Amino acid sequence: MATTSSLLLLFLLSLLLLPPARYGAGDGCPQQVASMTAESACNAVCGTPHMRELCLGTLAAPSSSTTTTASSPVTDLAMAAVRGALDAYAATTAAATSLIDGGAVQGDGEKAAYGGCMVGYGRARIAMARVADDLLAAAGQGGGGCDGDKGSSGPGLGLSLSADYTVGLRGMDMCGRGIMGYPASPLYAMNLADRNKTLLAALLCSLVAPPPQPGGGGGHSQSLVARGN
Ligand SMILES: *[C@@H]1O[C@H](CO)[C@@H](O)[C@H](O)[C@H]1NC(C)=O
Repeated sequence: MATTSSLLLLFLLSLLLLPPARYGAGDGCPQQVASMTAESACNAVCGTPHMRELCLGTLAAPSSSTTTTASSPVTDLAMAAVRGALDAYAATTAAATSLIDGGAVQGDGEKAAYGGCMVGYGRARIAMARVADDLLAAAGQGGGGCDGDKGSSGPGLGLSLSADYTVGLRGMDMCGRGIMGYPASPLYAMNLADRNKTLLAALLCSLVAPPPQPGGGGGHSQSLVARGN
């Protein structure tokens, strides 16, 4: 009996120690829409502990259809992050509006910075809403394949996703450039956090369809991580 249970324990331990299934591991691309756990998706796309925390927290949020334990289609994982970014934009612009209305924003320079944020966030919202539409379409077609030429995701999916989340990032940066001069403004910290949420959405979108290679697609993906471009 003792032997049986220790064998069982050993078996269970070996399951735990198995490396998680990796998207795209081994031979290129999966045929169907890929599914991953939140943890493996976050490990795959996040380069810093901070982004990984943000990723896991976003994918475990009660408002998202994904959980940290079960596998989800990568389209759902990306969608959860896009929705998180859109919610953050709404909260930030609402906060900015009440700060302005409450008279908390003094001086023409800071007012102009807030104005730039409103414009930048407006552009980001439109662009990320388009990303959400594209993800819905890809999920509806059972698509979201590994490469744009294969499966039913359509050849343009990676291109239009990356064009749109790049506009989202630029919108965040447009706000950031102006508000940089007012680090004490509540909007300053909010924008940095929202920028990271936008980047997270972009990174998870790259699991659905990789961005076009730099040089082949106008270099949309080059500015993904760099700030201020
Ligand atoms: C944004 O992400 C970077 C890199 O992971 C991190 O260093 C930074 O603290 C984050 N900023 C905010 C406001 O969360």
